[in-house]
Amino acid sequence: MNDTGLPAGRIRPMTAADVAVVEELERQLFPLDAWPLQMFEDELAQPETRSYYVAVDALDRVIAYAGLMCIEPIADVQTIAVVPEREGQGIGTQLLTLLIEEAARRNARDVLLEVRADNPRAQRLYRWFGFEQIHIRPRYYRDGVDALIMRLELDRWNGVPGSSGTTPTLQTEPTAHTEEPEDVR
Ligand SMILES: CC(C)(COP(=O)(O)OP(=O)(O)OC[C@H]1O[C@@H](n2cnc3c(N)ncnc32)[C@H](O)[C@@H]1OP(=O)(O)O)[C@@H](O)C(=O)NCCC(=O)NCCS
Repeated sequence: MNDTGLPAGRIRPMTAADVAVVEELERQLFPLDAWPLQMFEDELAQPETRSYYVAVDALDRVIAYAGLMCIEPIADVQTIAVVPEREGQGIGTQLLTLLIEEAARRNARDVLLEVRADNPRAQRLYRWFGFEQIHIRPRYYRDGVDALIMRLELDRWNGVPGSSGTTPTLQTEPTAHTEEPEDVR
């Protein structure tokens, strides 16, 4: 147990061995828009532009996952999800922080994401971090719901917003980064 009283866990880079479990969670959490397994495999195969993480509990069960794409100068939150029984404990905050820090490390200027107009909890999380709605994509999702496009300008990012008091301190393992080739021009 950690000092929040929650079972210890950690955040680590997602690997190919996690994909089957993540895809199963994906179908539960995004029943209308679930990514197929192949999509996760394709994403993991592009580490030069992608960073994916899983949060696991003390028994090494996946309780959350998230992924970022960064093609300078824009980074995109590709996905972020927490299992329902662990929502509201700050795990989403921790993962989103990690994605934003990774975007900054990869020299992104902006972080963009899409969120369903009928997903207030996710929107609250993003607004709390300073994301602002910049567009609406009408009927973007298969069931006809609009997508809000939100943006965080990284030069305005000052680190994690004030503590919610629920933030678990999942230990974070560093990603093995691929060194970018020097720009020779
Ligand atoms: C959206 C999601 C990732 C959030 O993860 P989470 O672990 O529950 O998030 P956290 O506990 O870190 O934080 C969420 C909270 O941050 C909150 N927050 C915002 N400002 C805050 C503040 N000043 N102090 C404390 N908390 C604050 C949000 O309001 C939200 O809490 P609430 O719903 O109780 O109001 C999760 O709910 C989820 O996986 N949902 C299903 C899948 C999904 O919708 N994914 C997003 C697709 S775009």
